[in-house]
Amino acid sequence: TRDLTVLGLESSCDDTGAAVVRLSGDTGGSILSNVVYGQAELHRDFGGVVPEIAARAHTSKLDLAVRAALTEAGTSLAGIDAIAVTAGPGLIGGVMAGVMCAKGLAAATGLPLIGVNHLAGHALTPRLTDGLTYPYLMLLVSGGHCQFLIARGPDSFARLGGTIDDAPGEAFDKAARLLGLPQPGGPAVERAALDGDPKSFRLPRPLLDRSGCDMSFSGLKTALLRARNTLIADQGGLFRQDVADLCAAFQSSVCDVLAEKTRRALAEYMVLNPTQPALAVAGGVAANNAIRAVLETVSSDAGAQFCAPPLALCTDNAAMIAYAGGELFRSGHIDDMTLTPRPRWPL
Ligand code: KG4
Ligand code: ZN
Repeated sequence: TRDLTVLGLESSCDDTGAAVVRLSGDTGGSILSNVVYGQAELHRDFGGVVPEIAARAHTSKLDLAVRAALTEAGTSLAGIDAIAVTAGPGLIGGVMAGVMCAKGLAAATGLPLIGVNHLAGHALTPRLTDGLTYPYLMLLVSGGHCQFLIARGPDSFARLGGTIDDAPGEAFDKAARLLGLPQPGGPAVERAALDGDPKSFRLPRPLLDRSGCDMSFSGLKTALLRARNTLIADQGGLFRQDVADLCAAFQSSVCDVLAEKTRRALAEYMVLNPTQPALAVAGGVAANNAIRAVLETVSSDAGAQFCAPPLALCTDNAAMIAYAGGELFRSGHIDDMTLTPRPRWPL
């Protein structure tokens, strides 16, 4: 396979990204640039991502991100072989901004345009970073998603199970809001949990009694709310140590659920694919060190290789979109000006 240099764009949530990635060989790639303009401060006062504000910020930042990504990669559009863009799922205004920008670039240059599923971007990241070969088991855990997938190709995924309500990232974000911590909640809860005792509160481990790989996180959030309200009623407020303890208890419950369900998913996966088993994680929640640690233990107990991409490549970025777009292009996939942004797009 010949080398392929891909420009990728990402704008499906609250990060505006542009990146240049070079694919060589059958798996793996080098990231020539990976520009991410976060919008956290624009949404901070609202306690969550405001779609309209996000869309406007993407529109005003995409061109700058593309220019920065090309410059940092030491190239220009003349050195690019294909343009990949997140075409969904996500906040539709932002996805539209990215798709329009990519269409403009493709029209102006005549380069092939490839629409990428954001989730496929996360799911292929372990190939980009570690050259993992197909098939592998993937745990995708982000703000909007939580599922076990068997990755067989850039456009071929089988689902083993997933959350039946909230995604863990969403639960972390809501937990942070309940406890007066900043958004995005995941990193804030993880930081606070460092000073807490996970055994100080007994929070539930939902669905562990049920067979299979499905998960649930909304009851956990309700239990956290109840524990918080009891504390406030008893002592008139929340002390710093209470917040730390609640965060530690919450995180340890998420860890236990993910660990047990991953154990089952790996067992199921290994029946189907007994040789060279591998577990990969991706999505924003995979940036959590406690969660990574338990998943690593589960993998090694099962004799499976464990692959967790570097933190910056677990959260939203355009390098994963460029890489996934490159794999799709090599497998013969190409879009045209009819490429349509999709708010929902299951893998
Ligand atoms: O993949 P991502 O960047 O966006 C999508 O949802 O697609 O994931 C963002 C989510 C947020 O909910 C955020 O709170 C969570 O990932 N997250 C974390 C951590 N860092 C980010 N959750 C737990 N621990 C973290 N360190
Ligand atoms: Zn994401």
